[in-house]
Amino acid sequence: MRVVILPSELEASNFAANIIGKFISDKEKAVLGLASGSSTVLTYKALIKKYEQGQISFKSVTTFNLDEYVGLKPGHPQSYRNYMNSKLFDHIDINYKNVFIPECFDDDYAASCENYESMIRRHGGIDIQVLGIGTNGHIGFNEPTSSLNSRTRVKTLTQNTIENNAHFFKDNETQPSLAITMGIGTIMEAKQILLLGLGKHKSQAVAEVIEGPVSSFFPGSILQQHKNVIVVVDKHAASDLKLYDYYIHTEKMHQKYMC
Ligand code: GLP
Repeated sequence: MRVVILPSELEASNFAANIIGKFISDKEKAVLGLASGSSTVLTYKALIKKYEQGQISFKSVTTFNLDEYVGLKPGHPQSYRNYMNSKLFDHIDINYKNVFIPECFDDDYAASCENYESMIRRHGGIDIQVLGIGTNGHIGFNEPTSSLNSRTRVKTLTQNTIENNAHFFKDNETQPSLAITMGIGTIMEAKQILLLGLGKHKSQAVAEVIEGPVSSFFPGSILQQHKNVIVVVDKHAASDLKLYDYYIHTEKMHQKYMC
């Protein structure tokens, strides 16, 4: 695992955007796995800026989002599709036909999930999967005790997740308690993982991902078994890491010898 600790949330997000930006410039048909939530907002802003400055184009990029709420009507302001449109897609030159979000609009949830898996396969798999980390360890909406081999499916959200995401919903809006999410097995098949952890409230989760035991009780810890993971955090999110100084030193060595 490469652990990159930067002084601020902005610098961490810019770092993540640079990795994604370079990748899509270098690869003809890049396939990105994207996350919604608070952690990725500044990264998407930085990508929009790169696009506006003519540094990158998304014309031949395909994206697969990690997850979506079940039960929100298309276009619902709190849907992750709406989030992605307003935070990224509406501001870049992506072809909307190349945007995939795991949605369930009818009751055939199993078919929606299988279809999503087959679309990922048909595109040759995900090159870089961007992730946030839930305070309870979830990646996507793979809640604690999710099978470490799980595939795209519908999950019941924990009370903790519902409460953490409540601030996105207005008082009169019903917040879903079900979500469709890529499975942990699906995420682990991405060729590279880029996990963003921002802010003091993520420090324990970040420490569990990097230094905790691998356990379905803290799903993000499975990333320790992936061959190509970069965890990008600001100094507050890194503050509970036992080997903080080691990661700072290691990254200096990485910059000196490997970049
Ligand atoms: C959310 C979403 C994920 C997100 C993660 C972290 O609930 N299901 O897509 O990556 O949990 O969210 P946030 O970045 O808002 O802390």
